[in-house]
Amino acid sequence: MTKNFKRIGVLTSGGDAPGMNAAVRSIVRGAISRGIEVMGIYCGYRGLLDNDMKLLDARDVSNIINHGGTMLYSDRCNKFKTQEGLDEAVASCRKNGIDGIVTIGGDGTFRGATDLSRLGIPCIGVPGTIDNDISATDYTIGYDTAKNTVIEMVDKLRDTCESHARCNVVEVMGRNAGYIAIDCGIAVGSTGIAIPEIPFDREKLINSITHLSKNGKRNFIVMVSEGMGSDFSETLVSEIQEKTGIETRLARLAHVQRGGNPTCEDRLIATQMGDKAVELLLQGLYNLVVCYNKGKICTEKMEYAFTLDRIVKNKATVEEIEKLEPDVREDMLRRAAEKKAHFQELYELAERVSI
Ligand code: F6P
Repeated sequence: MTKNFKRIGVLTSGGDAPGMNAAVRSIVRGAISRGIEVMGIYCGYRGLLDNDMKLLDARDVSNIINHGGTMLYSDRCNKFKTQEGLDEAVASCRKNGIDGIVTIGGDGTFRGATDLSRLGIPCIGVPGTIDNDISATDYTIGYDTAKNTVIEMVDKLRDTCESHARCNVVEVMGRNAGYIAIDCGIAVGSTGIAIPEIPFDREKLINSITHLSKNGKRNFIVMVSEGMGSDFSETLVSEIQEKTGIETRLARLAHVQRGGNPTCEDRLIATQMGDKAVELLLQGLYNLVVCYNKGKICTEKMEYAFTLDRIVKNKATVEEIEKLEPDVREDMLRRAAEKKAHFQELYELAERVSI
């Protein structure tokens, strides 16, 4: 079925991520190429409430594929989460002739998209977050660039650590997920990694640093995911310094990870995902998340994505899991187990190569 759409909207919401611009460009041009107009909605869902939007032509998205941030700006809009806000958003879509919306962002963005779809504005989600924490997809836009930023920064830290015989605890983003930390921990050759998915053994790390130092190693990088909790890194710094006698500093890389020119991977996948989202809307499909699994662009239902996420993050109740259709349950439990195994395998690899 092809929908008789004249105009779709596009917005970016939640934390920005490098590659969001590439997705916007692809959505705008992919739609125009198919004879559809595109309304750029500014500052996420807030733009619907404030009527902050503009029709975009192909030239409006020139020279953005290489830029970080998002030309549509982003916001986390609380009013949109209320019934009043949602009703205003739907009215705004009707008034502006918006037949459907591609929403780029993370979990929160998709919840908003589901609400709008339920109220008659078809939405398709494109995963854009550096955290890579949307379980239905192996890849989220911005993840690769953020990791490359981290390794660039840590390579610099290592130089100075070596000169001064120091340890640097490096805290990276990822919200409650350790994807950035585990990949970058391995990629920078860190001595230890702390992520929420794997129990952390402080004593083992201290013993390892002590042993390696005695054998002549001068620089130590310990990669910590912010998901370990607010004081974790500070406490670890004091403990390493106290117990090993090695001067230890904390580097919290923070929002630098969210900026910068997107890598080739992010530009390419964002372009593929954006175009796919337009195609889906025009096919009359909605409430789907565009995913990238096993090297291919594919889709999952939003509800499936939310439930899988809850299972992976151990938030789903037994009753919730039992209520699922047997084949869906089996599929989700298998995928959740694969995610766990992924972290375990990488963690063990990191340990083997940090001796
Ligand atoms: O979701 C992206 C992210 O950068 C997380 O890694 C981090 O926990 C959070 O957003 C930071 O949010 P804010 O930009 O509001 O400080």
